[in-house]
Amino acid sequence: MTTAISRPWEHVVVTGGAGFVGSHLCTALLDTGAAVTCVDDLSTGRPENVTPLLERPGFTLVRANVAEELPVDRRPDLVLHFASPASPADYLRLPLHTMETGSLGTRNALRLAQDSEARFVLASTSEVYGDPRQNPQDERYWGNVNPVGPRSVYDEAKRFGEALTTAHAETHGTDTCIVRLFNTYGPRMRGHDGRAVPTFVRQALAGEPLTVTGDGHQTRSLCYVDDTVAGVLAAAAHGMRGPVNIGNPAEITMLELARLVVRLSGSASEIRYIERPVDDPAVRCPDITLARDKLGWEPRVDAEEGLRRTLAWFRAEAGH
Ligand SMILES: NC(=O)c1ccc[n+]([C@@H]2O[C@H](COP(=O)([O-])OP(=O)(O)OC[C@H]3O[C@@H](n4cnc5c(N)ncnc54)[C@H](O)[C@@H]3O)[C@@H](O)[C@H]2O)c1
Repeated sequence: MTTAISRPWEHVVVTGGAGFVGSHLCTALLDTGAAVTCVDDLSTGRPENVTPLLERPGFTLVRANVAEELPVDRRPDLVLHFASPASPADYLRLPLHTMETGSLGTRNALRLAQDSEARFVLASTSEVYGDPRQNPQDERYWGNVNPVGPRSVYDEAKRFGEALTTAHAETHGTDTCIVRLFNTYGPRMRGHDGRAVPTFVRQALAGEPLTVTGDGHQTRSLCYVDDTVAGVLAAAAHGMRGPVNIGNPAEITMLELARLVVRLSGSASEIRYIERPVDDPAVRCPDITLARDKLGWEPRVDAEEGLRRTLAWFRAEAGH
């Protein structure tokens, strides 16, 4: 199945463009010939993610906190709102920042889109489903979220962002789209960001034990970043409002993932079991029927291939 970007844009604003997913989006958009303005406060992003892009014509980096301001001097025709801490380690460290980015930051990004008559895409998350009572999760499922648990700063900020986006479309006619991303992994993740793939990869390459939480039977569905980027841009190019799940329905337990990383890396690391975080979802798997039917999109990179590419990048970064 092919996913062509049918509507190239002139100028795209990517909030959070110096982050993991955002920087891959910036690269893909520059490749389509669009000018890209990345607005990022570098709170969890890495300048190295976008340093190579500074050489490319049409790329601008603006350092700003989108919850406070969104200083863009040229009108965009697409706004991709991806700013937000995304790993549990980051949002637990930055709880108020996370909520302000999801609320005030989303309001500012929506206003920019409205004023510019641009299309707007909100990066929402599978976390809006919380610890789901339904597996796989389709877009009609309302979720099972603890509103005052430690993860609530992220989950509820994203749920609020979805509600605000919907209200903006209804009130102002803003051309909006909500994409719900499921766990995405690949090159440019930070080894210490606390998410399972970079943690296991870093530990395996260092010959350290791989720390699996709980009994390791909880599942995740891992989508390689190139597939996620293709899905986001397909949703942006399509007129759909969403929400639409973008993820890989191949479900894997954390223990299987750890063993796979050990095998692919050729590491001698052992598995060590550690305490499972509060409100950690037991299962996570997208139903992507909507994305398949409406966008003609589905993931192409399986876990083995994606992990090989990710391991190669981490090895190159570490200089071995
Ligand atoms: N990676 C995933 O698995 C995943 C899954 C679901 C949803 N998402 C969503 O995708 C987006 C990107 O996630 P990621 O994995 O690339 O995370 P990331 O932490 O690598 O990137 C987030 C970027 O946003 C920037 N940022 C944060 N707050 C900001 C603010 N107030 N103003 C300006 N910039 C700000 C950070 O500096 C960083 O560059 C997030 O909105 C996240 O919720 C990601």
